[in-house]
Amino acid sequence: MDSEATTLGLDPASLAALLDHIATCSPAVPINRDTGRRTAALVPVFVFGFPVDMAPLLTLASEWNLTVVEGAAESLGSTYHDLNCASFGRLATLSFSGNNIIATRGGGAIGTDDAALARRAKLLSATAKGPHRWDFFRNETVYNYRLPNLNAALGVAQFEQLPQPLAAKRRLAERYAGSLAGFERAQILQEAESARSNQWLNALLINHDWVYRRHEVLSAPNDAGLMTRLIWTLMHCLPRCQARPRADLSVAEDLAARVLNLPSSANLVGKS
Ligand SMILES: Cc1ncc(COP(=O)(O)O)c(C=O)c1O
Repeated sequence: MDSEATTLGLDPASLAALLDHIATCSPAVPINRDTGRRTAALVPVFVFGFPVDMAPLLTLASEWNLTVVEGAAESLGSTYHDLNCASFGRLATLSFSGNNIIATRGGGAIGTDDAALARRAKLLSATAKGPHRWDFFRNETVYNYRLPNLNAALGVAQFEQLPQPLAAKRRLAERYAGSLAGFERAQILQEAESARSNQWLNALLINHDWVYRRHEVLSAPNDAGLMTRLIWTLMHCLPRCQARPRADLSVAEDLAARVLNLPSSANLVGKS
């Protein structure tokens, strides 16, 4: 389904229309009329740190009995109506890979306030080693996704300092917005009124009449060693996903043509 132009995330109106069109609730779970398959979960992703409009999504999720799993990898420190992202769904996923606000060089975390689910996630990610001290009974096909202790130590130390990169990223975003205020060919994407972004990745929205020059626009900063880039290729444009069902994606396609990401490291601005 389509994106919402301000948050860049899942559009509640598009989701509602899609569910009405393709799903039937039988008896309590949504079944896709075309495929006969059950839709189990809703996975809103907070793109670049911008919070998705969660209130209507949570209402839809409860109406359709969908479990919400937040793709919160980009939004550690973002808030929606003063509530932290990664606290709305039954589960939330976080990433600590190299370019994230907390970077342990790899790995991530699952957030949940469901203790049973947390135990289950730990079991699945830790080679099914149960809590027993000497009985190594591993009766499941599972994974070895543990964050090594050394990497976790890096992450814990950074968690204690989290306000600092958040403040630095906000200063950088304000610098970009200030520098480009009044520029007619592009605008910095701004957070919605009820939302506070962690400003993970700054995004410039270029006007339609500049789209044909976007590679030219990007070559100058890249030649100067400043990584400035196109947004990720949309999934439905990847050859391996082209046969998948999809709704109208015109907003997402328009954004993909016009959004450029700017250098966003917290180290780019000073302390004041
Ligand atoms: C929304 C989202 N999900 C998943 C990932 C991948 O995370 P990881 O590299 O920790 O698997 C990223 C990467 O930053 C991301 O932005």
